[in-house]
Amino acid sequence: MVTAIFPAAGSSVRMGGGVNKNLLELAGEPILIRTLKTFSQVGRVNFLIVVVAAHEVAAVEGLLSATAGLKPWRVTVGGSERQYSIANGLKLLPDDAEIILVHDAARPLISARTIDDVIDAAERFGGAIAAVPSKDTIKIVDADGFVKSTPPRSELVAVQTPQGFKREILLQAYAQAAADKFLGTDDASLVERLGARVKVVASSYDNIKITTPEDLGVAETLLRSENK
Ligand code: CTP
Ligand code: MG
Repeated sequence: MVTAIFPAAGSSVRMGGGVNKNLLELAGEPILIRTLKTFSQVGRVNFLIVVVAAHEVAAVEGLLSATAGLKPWRVTVGGSERQYSIANGLKLLPDDAEIILVHDAARPLISARTIDDVIDAAERFGGAIAAVPSKDTIKIVDADGFVKSTPPRSELVAVQTPQGFKREILLQAYAQAAADKFLGTDDASLVERLGARVKVVASSYDNIKITTPEDLGVAETLLRSENK
């Protein structure tokens, strides 16, 4: 079975700070709730672990308790970096979790289809990430702001979540990163360090991460066009 971990313990600095962006309303419901409902629609997902800041645990437990239709869940406390938040979430893994998904709570437009595709690929290859072809040309730059090189765009993908892994692989990757004091920007980067394969799964450009205030408007627009 599949357990999904939702990091939601950030400081939301780019959103303006102060409140957890994952609790802001999007089309009438909190972002976190929309995200959890979509994962709850996927048959193989049978457990949800939500990671929030210590002072939010009780309120988020209340919110989830009041929400119908969620798969069984637990709420736990995050850390100072996304990676530490997920490491805390991993401590609550149920014994039957063979595949672990990690998904930013702040990506509420994720589709059940992409979740299913990532699970399939994680089962087959051990690791899988949702991604889209890069629309932009990406440059490698030096510390002084000069271009060093231009990797061919055809080889670049913009990586999203969910990222899914077989249990042993992800646990080993997190243990090794902790031992090496390695801090990565996504979960796959920890797994790549082990030399394990990670399959890229085609996702949608709609699966944006709510990061700045403008993203709320963009997400509302995308939702309206999806519901047409
Ligand atoms: N996150 C987390 N623990 C952290 C940092 C981030 O659980 N220490 C979560 C965020 O809550 C978010 C996801 O990881 O759901 C992706 O991070 P990001 O979009 O960067 O959110 P924030 O870190 O909150 O935003 P910012 O970087 O603007 O402060
Ligand atoms: Mg952040």
